[in-house]
Amino acid sequence: MPVITFANTKGGAGKTTAVLLLATELEQMGFRVTVLDADPQYWITRWRENSADKTTVKVVPYVTLASLEKHIQESRSESDYVLIDLPGARTPLLAKAIGYSNHVLIPIQGCSMDAQGGAHVIELMQYLADKGNIHIPFSVVLTRVNSMVTTRALQTVKTLLAERRVNVMDTPIIERSAFRDVFDCGGTLHTLTAGRVSNLEKARENARAFADEVLMHEALRCRKLQLGKAASLRAVA
Ligand SMILES: Nc1ncnc2c1ncn2[C@@H]1O[C@H](COP(=O)(O)OP(=O)(O)OP(=O)(O)O)[C@@H](O)[C@H]1O
Ligand SMILES: [Mg+2]
Repeated sequence: MPVITFANTKGGAGKTTAVLLLATELEQMGFRVTVLDADPQYWITRWRENSADKTTVKVVPYVTLASLEKHIQESRSESDYVLIDLPGARTPLLAKAIGYSNHVLIPIQGCSMDAQGGAHVIELMQYLADKGNIHIPFSVVLTRVNSMVTTRALQTVKTLLAERRVNVMDTPIIERSAFRDVFDCGGTLHTLTAGRVSNLEKARENARAFADEVLMHEALRCRKLQLGKAASLRAVA
């Protein structure tokens, strides 16, 4: 049961939107998904209340530092994926959630020069690797990217990340009104009505490509683990 945490200590980077897109796409593919909602604005909890039987995604509200471990343990038997939506602030919950994660996704707005909150999480991940020998895979996902043009802000963010050798997901999350409509209407991109929502098909394609890439990353991680175990067994034999 992989745990994927979405973290950026800056508010409004697009964490909650990315969590919802991934959760509902994984559901569409047939996976059982639990979202642990630690965002003090509880958008995902409210979305779930507003979605009735339009989704099977399970949402655990009011997740705190004290309750996180319990919720992860409880989710083990009933979920294929657990996604954690963190607050957009510096909080002790960040380090704790990272410690339980198989992959940390750091949404950074492609439309804004301000990548500081993302940089804070990247520094924490690199510190854990360098000083604690704790290697948790992490990737930046560029969010709210303009579908038509590569802005100077986006180029600057990409250059900064390349200089730091940070893995950036190939699929950015595009700025789409459909991604806001899902919160307003409840349900998923697949239950929204085409015609009422602009560029719905493009939004679905984007969400699917994002989820596919996360799954590919997960498959690679599992393969590496298996190879590592096989190598250790050979060494013992
Ligand atoms: N790809 C997108 N397309 C359109 N609107 C978006 C997109 N991503 C985020 N938004 C909008 O930007 C705002 C902030 O997004 P979101 O709530 O996902 O960020 P957040 O990082 O979870 O914020 P916080 O740190 O406050 O929890 C919301 O109004 C959301 O609808
Ligand atoms: Mg949020």
